[in-house]
Amino acid sequence: MKTKTVYLKNFGCQMNNADAEQLLGVLHRAGYRATDRPEEADLILLNTCAIREKAEQKVFSDLGRLKVFKAKDPGVLIGVLGCVAQAEGKKILAREPAVDFVAGTRGTAEVPEMIRKARAGERSLFLSLEDEFDPGRFRNESIRESRVAALVPIIYGCDNFCSYCVVPYVRGREWSRPAAEILQEVRELAGRGYKEITLIGQNVNSYGKKSKENEDFCGLLHLLHEVNGLERIRFVTSHPKDLSRSVIAAMASLHKICEALHLPVQSGSDRVLRDMNRGYSRSDYLKKVERLREAIPGIALTTDIIVGFPGESEADFEETLSLIREADFDRLFAFRFSPRAGTAAEKLPDPVDEETAGRRLAAVLDLQKEQTLRKHQALVGTTVEVLVEGANPKVSGEWMGRTRANKIVHFGGGRTVPGDLVDVRIEKGLPNCLTGRVVSS
Ligand code: SAH
Ligand code: SF4
Ligand code: F3S
Repeated sequence: MKTKTVYLKNFGCQMNNADAEQLLGVLHRAGYRATDRPEEADLILLNTCAIREKAEQKVFSDLGRLKVFKAKDPGVLIGVLGCVAQAEGKKILAREPAVDFVAGTRGTAEVPEMIRKARAGERSLFLSLEDEFDPGRFRNESIRESRVAALVPIIYGCDNFCSYCVVPYVRGREWSRPAAEILQEVRELAGRGYKEITLIGQNVNSYGKKSKENEDFCGLLHLLHEVNGLERIRFVTSHPKDLSRSVIAAMASLHKICEALHLPVQSGSDRVLRDMNRGYSRSDYLKKVERLREAIPGIALTTDIIVGFPGESEADFEETLSLIREADFDRLFAFRFSPRAGTAAEKLPDPVDEETAGRRLAAVLDLQKEQTLRKHQALVGTTVEVLVEGANPKVSGEWMGRTRANKIVHFGGGRTVPGDLVDVRIEKGLPNCLTGRVVSS
């Protein structure tokens, strides 16, 4: 079989990254090798994100750019996958004659068949969101970006229906992978030299809730902690309403679980949190932060914030700023509210004007910038464990890795290879990373 090439452009969250890695595995079996040059590809794929309007618009501008390659060589196939595909599949096929197939978020395994059809001149669409979909059918085939740290999906879909969010509509109902299958995948990864795993899902704390034979999330953490060779466990995302005492206790007692947690709060105002259908109050959230800080000294907390949610007053926004100060986050991601078709928040009155939302976004980012820099500078002079991921792209001869608190470190000194755990003395705290030198290896 002649090797063909695929150019895959990926957008969105870590779930999309994991889907892309799985898809590359499936395509490898079908005779494709990946290329980062679209001009030489036989197959062009866009794995899309629908979370905000801007992300969605990007699909159409990218298609406009990439279909030029098909115009030059009609043998080139174009496929659109992922969350925009799920939401707008029919529209994409109707609007873009250059697109040969569209597969939604549970369509990875269908892609080889869709390619065959496209070669025979048939355009196709796969949008099923059936619960019984079995992601395990391509376990361990993934072609992963990193050889050191692996993404491992544990739960697909989302049942939370936060009022602003499109994910439950494009990813379907929650579906937990069997614990035995996850364990086997993690064992194999550790056997191949992976040192770190990040368990992923829209709400990892819901893991196993729907099926009796499965472990719950805490049980899964205990199970994976036993895997020999594995050094670090992370997970993302945790919904604050479901972060239990037992998970906090597991984080405190199981040494492989890193001292870092992404806990999206979205807003500091109870009224806004209620309208967002988040299921917790400001004080519930801050209590959990306090519990985490007590149980896990040095834990790095990160969050997501939405500004300009409908009806967000200046007073509501001030509460968000004060929560950011109180929780003392290490880092955050902030977004301007973007109304999404079909969600409850799309119909809410009292939109916040663009200028106000823009000002609030800047204020959140400014405040966090100060906090992050202060935290990074406080680490100067300390020695931290770093997992070496690869070369520092900016300075030749230097390395890049992450601390257990998930901070990026650029460092020199010592003889290391990716996958090593080294002790690094921090010399500088910068806005987005730390720099230092190896003290032992
Ligand atoms: N399941 C995760 C991640 C969801 S998407 C969670 O519950 O946290 C990542 C982030 O995008 C969200 O945390 C939220 O801050 C942001 N987001 C989601 N929908 C949005 C919208 N309509 N407008 C602006 N930001 C949004
Ligand atoms: Fe969206 Fe809420 Fe589900 Fe996260 S928990 S994916 S924000 S609906
Ligand atoms: Fe985007 Fe889909 Fe993830 S909408 S954030 S790629 S689940």
